[in-house]
Amino acid sequence: MTVPVIRFEGVTRIYPMEGETVEALRGIDLEIQRGEFMAIMGPSGSGKSTMMHIAGLLDTLTQGSYELEGEDVSSLSKNQRADIRNRRIGFIFQSFNLLARCSALENVELPMLYHRPGVMDRRERAMAALEAVGMADRAHHLPRQLSGGQQQRMAVARALVNRPALILADEPTGNLDTRTGREIIKLLGSLHEQGITVVLVTHDPEIGRSVRRRIVLRDGLMETDEVG
Ligand SMILES: Nc1ncnc2c1ncn2[C@@H]1O[C@H](COP(=O)(O)OP(=O)(O)OP(=O)(O)O)[C@@H](O)[C@H]1O
Ligand SMILES: [Mg+2]
Repeated sequence: MTVPVIRFEGVTRIYPMEGETVEALRGIDLEIQRGEFMAIMGPSGSGKSTMMHIAGLLDTLTQGSYELEGEDVSSLSKNQRADIRNRRIGFIFQSFNLLARCSALENVELPMLYHRPGVMDRRERAMAALEAVGMADRAHHLPRQLSGGQQQRMAVARALVNRPALILADEPTGNLDTRTGREIIKLLGSLHEQGITVVLVTHDPEIGRSVRRRIVLRDGLMETDEVG
């Protein structure tokens, strides 16, 4: 049997708040296999973003265990998590999270700054990633000089540039109109066809139906897990 990309066992996330605590995730068991294309759905506050942040090593779990490609990552240090995240995971946010003063090319080069030698190599790979999302002709534009859909494609290029095994996208179409949103989903679908594991959060039932597997969270628990 192959090792799942993500393996959650009893994953729980409790946020301490004044006086009380918030149980954002209350014991999630989940396996995501290599090459899956999956949607996480569920009402606002059900724990979708919390789950993505934990999967993306942007947040830590309170109880349970998390194995990423067979490696226990539940109790790594902050630096170890950052290192793994940088090399193996591409994250795409609803609000794009681009640096306003940097061009498309510079934004896409960012994830390579930590560990890739050579300016030329960086530039070439950033250009290739921009080409892959159909943005080569906008390489020198600033984010504000681009449409929402183009900014999100730029964010997809940035997520791709270190050739991650896993792409996590938290409501990547949340700030886009329906048509532009569909284009972004198509782009993520083409990454899936290239063998990358893609997990996205969406509120759009049509997007949910367009991917192979969807899970629904409710109050921090997994309500359904459907394939087909
Ligand atoms: N840093 C935090 N501190 C305290 N509580 C938090 C924190 N982050 C999330 N929560 C709480 O955890 C619960 C789950 O939040 P989460 O952001 O995962 O929901 P979501 O499903 O992504 O919702 P939405 O669809 O609105 O984005 C919510 O009740 C939220 O208020
Ligand atoms: Mg959310």
